[in-house]
Amino acid sequence: MIGYNVFILIAGTGYLLGATQSKEYAEPEWYADLWLTVVWVAYLLVFLATVWRRKEPHLYVANWFYLAFIVTIAMLHIVNNLAMPVTPFGIKSYPIFSGVQDALVQWWYGHNAVGFFLTAGFLAIMYYFIPKRANRPVYSYRLSIVHFWALIFIYIWAGPHHLHYTALPEWASTLGMTFSIILWMPSWGGMINGLMTLSGAWDKLRTDPVLRMMVVSVAFYGMSTFEGPLMSVKAVNSLSHYTDWTIGHVHSGALGWVAYISFGALYCLFPWLWKKKLYSLKLVDWHFWISTLGIVLYITSMWVSGIMQGLMWRAYTELGFLEYSFIETVEAMHPYYIIRALGGVLFLAGSLIMVFNLWMTVARGEEAQTSTTGLAAIPAE
Ligand code: HEM
Ligand code: HEM
Repeated sequence: MIGYNVFILIAGTGYLLGATQSKEYAEPEWYADLWLTVVWVAYLLVFLATVWRRKEPHLYVANWFYLAFIVTIAMLHIVNNLAMPVTPFGIKSYPIFSGVQDALVQWWYGHNAVGFFLTAGFLAIMYYFIPKRANRPVYSYRLSIVHFWALIFIYIWAGPHHLHYTALPEWASTLGMTFSIILWMPSWGGMINGLMTLSGAWDKLRTDPVLRMMVVSVAFYGMSTFEGPLMSVKAVNSLSHYTDWTIGHVHSGALGWVAYISFGALYCLFPWLWKKKLYSLKLVDWHFWISTLGIVLYITSMWVSGIMQGLMWRAYTELGFLEYSFIETVEAMHPYYIIRALGGVLFLAGSLIMVFNLWMTVARGEEAQTSTTGLAAIPAE
């Protein structure tokens, strides 16, 4: 934990000093990368040793996803950051790959960062916390295993969809697109498994806003993994690429899926760890509705802005000149940026409500006897 935060400090100060290798999501220079490798291996060892010393013989599927997340991120990080410092002790380095090979490695890394950093670990959270909270077994264990192997096998090929219409050979681009479309299936298999875990317990959505938050998160997962394959189709990408549509897609995943499932997990963990009832379910309700409104404003404004931006860029006059100058497209996006800012403020406000609620749970929460959900104790079945 300390090592990871030290890495963030090194990476952050690197930006201020202008030390960057100019790779998206991998800006820090070689010295920061080496440090992160040490930290990440320590993380892997802690995880493996915990699994090794377990008393429960069975390894529940959530742990498979955690392990895939840790191992794959290590592999991506090392390969994408292979670089040579320009001088023996200099800060600046150059990647060992060049030109289009470098771009392909970068997006092999970038897309799998989505699949393993923003997805696999959070699927593990889904597989553990939703059944726990709903007090139901996971809908289909077999489906979860198929989900796991299909997801990790298919994700790894999808990266080239970030490089459509570039110097990348056409066949590689088509390969990336094809695997992205196939990826829709395991993604939805996972979503269905998460949602169907509630069969027989749907009524709990009315009384338990924490469960509702997690279920909506899984629905957002389904939505962004439908949108992703759609955007990977070359014809669609020729419109969406470089526009705010991508930003909308990113945040339906980042806010709707990643953040919401994490909030749900935090609402479960605090009461469990401190053995107290959650301070206020009403506040969870407020958090849920305020931030859902925020996400909806964020992503819908980006859809409109992005599609408009793409259409304006490709509009020609009868004489074959561009219809709009670049600055006109920027001006046209202004109102949507205000709507996004409002969405962001609402999302942030919701998170602050959560911080207050969790703080109060620790400071003032009632000692829990049988149930730590904050709901009435669940009767034994
Ligand atoms: C089946 C699953 C998915 C597929 C096939 C997919 C596909 C895509 C495509 C085609 C793009 C646009 C590439 C471009 O034009 O530059 C994109 C961008 C992006 N997606 Fe997804 N997506 C999926 C799921 C997700 C999820 C669940 C998240 C987040 C949790 C996510 C995060 C991102 C991010 C961060 C970018 C922007 C990358 C950049 O910086 O350019 N995606 N995705
Ligand atoms: C209040 C919440 C948030 C707000 C208002 C917000 C806003 C923004 C903005 C304005 C950008 C720049 C978009 C552009 O280039 O035009 C951005 C990019 C990005 N954000 Fe967020 N963000 C939020 C939360 C998050 C979270 C929780 C995550 C991850 C879990 C995330 C992941 C990203 C990523 C990956 C990008 C880069 C996208 C790209 O360049 O394609 N954001 N965000």
